[in-house]
Amino acid sequence: MTTAQSLRATTKAAGGAPAPDAASFPRLPASWYFAGLSRRLGGGPMLAEFGDRRAVIFRTAGARAAALDARCSHQGADLSRGAVVADAIRCPFHGWSFDASGICTGAPGVCEVPPFARQRAYPVVERHGLLFAFNGERPLFPLPFFEDCDPHDFVAGRPFRFIGDCPWYVLASNGFDVAHFQSVHDRRMLAPPRVDEPHRFARRLRVPWEVTGDSIFDRLLRRFVGRTVDVTITNWGGTMTLVTGEFRRAKSYIFIATAPWHTDRTEVNVIVFAQRRGPAWLDGVSRQLSLGLRRLFTQGFLRDDIERLVGIRYRPERFTEADAEMAAFYRWLAEMPQEDRLPCSDSSSTSSESAESGAGRRGA
Ligand code: FES
Ligand SMILES: [Fe+2]
Repeated sequence: MTTAQSLRATTKAAGGAPAPDAASFPRLPASWYFAGLSRRLGGGPMLAEFGDRRAVIFRTAGARAAALDARCSHQGADLSRGAVVADAIRCPFHGWSFDASGICTGAPGVCEVPPFARQRAYPVVERHGLLFAFNGERPLFPLPFFEDCDPHDFVAGRPFRFIGDCPWYVLASNGFDVAHFQSVHDRRMLAPPRVDEPHRFARRLRVPWEVTGDSIFDRLLRRFVGRTVDVTITNWGGTMTLVTGEFRRAKSYIFIATAPWHTDRTEVNVIVFAQRRGPAWLDGVSRQLSLGLRRLFTQGFLRDDIERLVGIRYRPERFTEADAEMAAFYRWLAEMPQEDRLPCSDSSSTSSESAESGAGRRGA
């Protein structure tokens, strides 16, 4: 079969226009990224990395969290090794200071601050003790949360992290790869998927499933929570996936934040949520128990993905009719506006070794 014939066959099988070329996906989407735990700012500035971005995050005297490019615009020192002075971060090398918007507010020994003395600033949101940064000058959409839910009514569990051995856009498509739910997760589809776009930057898939596996997790789910589950998966901006699972006796809330990680790998941070309930004293105890169980079950569910995603790559020419929802997701992803996307960082500023050590410092 020629390439053109293959493409036509794929298009027909996948139910629409041809799936895009891999080059259609941005290296680092204009979207939100998990940047670390708020409490780490108590010890001073911290380094956060998402894709090839290295940012210093610090808390100003006014208690505001701010994020700037970590590489000093003077001679390139690492601002995350600097100090917070009032509302600014002071470079550890020559002592230039930059405020939360990246403006240089002081340069010792320099009569006139040069125009290049400016740091790129990233929008930051703090929620549930977690920090999120947007890759762009302005957020193209608000930091998402679960549909019809007020973040104040929820508490977050401790994030857990893993590295997926596949490109970020392949990992983003996982929830729309309907076929893998049966073979990887032991879920039997009870009705065809319903897919829509509740927002210009969000794509949502809803499917009712039957829990059919023999793992200890699935047996406990069937026994105590429910045999069927209505799952809603919403991807925002390509990097944030929000999953709810409505069982007969409980509802799960899972927030999955992803970022490109070196070549063809993806960093994944998973946060489970639980609703606040009852009086405060009771809530404290039951909340920890609930979060612990939710975290355990979510890890059990995602472990199958982590193990079996190894080596999965984007092969649009090999999509079949069973991959239709996934192909449609890729088309949506490739067309997502990126107009506020910033130019890529100077790659010479981030060595492989420093990227690795920086990730370790994130501690999530
Ligand atoms: S390298 Fe930062 S002030 Fe010189
Ligand atoms: Fe999966």
